[in-house]
Amino acid sequence: MEKPVSSAPSDIPGPAPNAGILAIEAYVPGESKLPGGVKPIKLSSNETPFGPSPKAIEAYKAAAANLHLYPDGQATALRQAIGRRYGLDPARIVCGAGSDELLTLLAHSYLGPGDEGLYTEHGFLVYRIAILSAGASPVVAPERNLKTDVDAILAKVTPRTKVVFLANPNNPTGTYIGIEEVRRLRAGLPARVLLVLDAAYAEYVSRNDYEAGIELVATTPNTVMTRTFSKIHGLAALRIGWAYCPSRIADVLNRVRGPFNMSAPAIAAGAAAIEDAKFAEAAARHNEAWLAIVSSEIGKLGLAVTPSVANFVLVHFPASGAHTAAAADDYLKSRGIILRRVSGYGLPDCLRMTIGSEADNRAVIAALAAFLGKTGA
Ligand SMILES: Cc1ncc(COP(=O)(O)O)c(C=O)c1O
Repeated sequence: MEKPVSSAPSDIPGPAPNAGILAIEAYVPGESKLPGGVKPIKLSSNETPFGPSPKAIEAYKAAAANLHLYPDGQATALRQAIGRRYGLDPARIVCGAGSDELLTLLAHSYLGPGDEGLYTEHGFLVYRIAILSAGASPVVAPERNLKTDVDAILAKVTPRTKVVFLANPNNPTGTYIGIEEVRRLRAGLPARVLLVLDAAYAEYVSRNDYEAGIELVATTPNTVMTRTFSKIHGLAALRIGWAYCPSRIADVLNRVRGPFNMSAPAIAAGAAAIEDAKFAEAAARHNEAWLAIVSSEIGKLGLAVTPSVANFVLVHFPASGAHTAAAADDYLKSRGIILRRVSGYGLPDCLRMTIGSEADNRAVIAALAAFLGKTGA
């Protein structure tokens, strides 16, 4: 047996990380476990209740025989499948280990010390982490009624602004802005500013005035759209995201990304998933129906629900008394249900609930009713 290695003396500080890094509060994922090994109803990470497409599972399993080989460093099959699905040039698609990787690579490629990266008040927290880890300064634009305010973003632009990150729809609010507003944002930003449209929930949105950003990317040299396979395609565990970019930006990302950043099982399963359009459509239909039911049923209990177009809702609780968000969270957990605390997003009085299966949604509604004393449950 090897002898245990003794640890280094703690009074030697060791190498200092780059500026900004120690200002980062590490991302805290949605909780997934309950004490006592109880299998929870987990509605804390905006995952799909349907799991992956059976075709994606089959492709994943088939990839197992070749795990000794390096994957295709260009993720060609996946980029081509995405290109076919949306009518895009695969050369302008870059894949990443989740859209998180692409957001980080964009920050590292276009931001540095002295620069500013902008995002909105309750914007997705990975933006802040990506900006700080690039040594740049995060700047936050206020939202209006939990919704992106284009004028407020434009008012925060300075000569140092280099990147604007916009989640549309946003997580954790579930709100969105229409394509005219996105165009107005792009038109109001200086040409040197990269606009990153994070459309992680685009597949769920059924609004006539919504566009994920494909046309803007196609027609401007400074806009990128990011997408994910973690939500409607049910492949969060495999870590697959993609960015549609102007050619020059795709070239930049291809220089900085890891040479084999997409695993072979991810490439195969992702390509199969995006080809299974029927599977994704069924998930979108389920979500649309249950988003409406969950929002209205929770509303009837007397809790405000922010109107959402995504696969989750933000539920508001009283700031004090017996029915706070923290108390609700504890109560729901005692009934085996995990939602998401969102204090880290500046929303301490809210919980975010992912739209789940019919049974899971009904369980949450019943548990909230019991928590509020509105039923005998
Ligand atoms: C707005 C937004 N962008 C990006 C992501 C990251 O997704 P991925 O799993 O592709 O890294 C998420 C995941 O929760 C998200 O909510």
